[in-house]
Amino acid sequence: MASNAILLITLALINLIYTSFAFDTRPLLDFCVARSNGKACKDPKAVTANDFFLSGPNKPGNTSNPNGVSVNYASAATVPGFNTLGLAHARAEFAENGYFPPHTHPRASEVIYVVEGAVEAGFMSSTPQNKYYSKILKKGDVFIIPMGLVHHVRNVAKGKSVLTATFNSQNPGFINLPNNILAAKPAVDTAFLAQVFKLDQNTVKDLQNKSWI
Ligand SMILES: *[C@@H]1O[C@H](CO)[C@@H](O)[C@H](O)[C@H]1NC(C)=O
Ligand SMILES: *[C@@H]1O[C@H](CO)[C@@H](O)[C@H](O)[C@H]1NC(C)=O
Repeated sequence: MASNAILLITLALINLIYTSFAFDTRPLLDFCVARSNGKACKDPKAVTANDFFLSGPNKPGNTSNPNGVSVNYASAATVPGFNTLGLAHARAEFAENGYFPPHTHPRASEVIYVVEGAVEAGFMSSTPQNKYYSKILKKGDVFIIPMGLVHHVRNVAKGKSVLTATFNSQNPGFINLPNNILAAKPAVDTAFLAQVFKLDQNTVKDLQNKSWI
């Protein structure tokens, strides 16, 4: 009897450990119609330090756009050494009041590091908890955005802010929610979106006709 109980507890613990460490394999793309998993490797003899190097992400960005933000993104597409390592990197610069609207990276968690200025970063946990976690980050602060969760970042400094973001995916993906929903091509049915957002159709039509980036 006692040994049965010990066996059950042991099995329950093993199950708990497996559950805590269980992890889905991560796709590299939104979908993969033809087989494609990463890119062919360069001959190791031809690899140089420059394959792992990127110069210039610190150059001032052009934030003259509706969101007041510029991104210098580095991934396997621009730095071949990133290939297969499950990493990507970005430097973002915000004009005063600049922002990233609510968005998700479906394949990556993100580490935000503030280089200059101050930003508010926040994410929401899944339904039904739907809890909002946010922080004002100042120079030198770090904040983590868990994989796939909806989040945003906005400049709260008087003047510009700069941050770096590191992603644990070669291709984190970027689903910009306003753009994704309101500027989809072809357009999502206006009457349906009006129903979803509890708005009148003219308001939704107006939203769908705006420029979203
Ligand atoms: C910044 O971008 C805007 C809009 O695309 C463009 O009109 C402007 O010339 C750019 N400025 C610089 C310095 O490149
Ligand atoms: C969409 O916006 C443009 C101007 O940006 C306007 O000329 C056009 O009439 C609008 N269309 C609708 C259907 O509202």
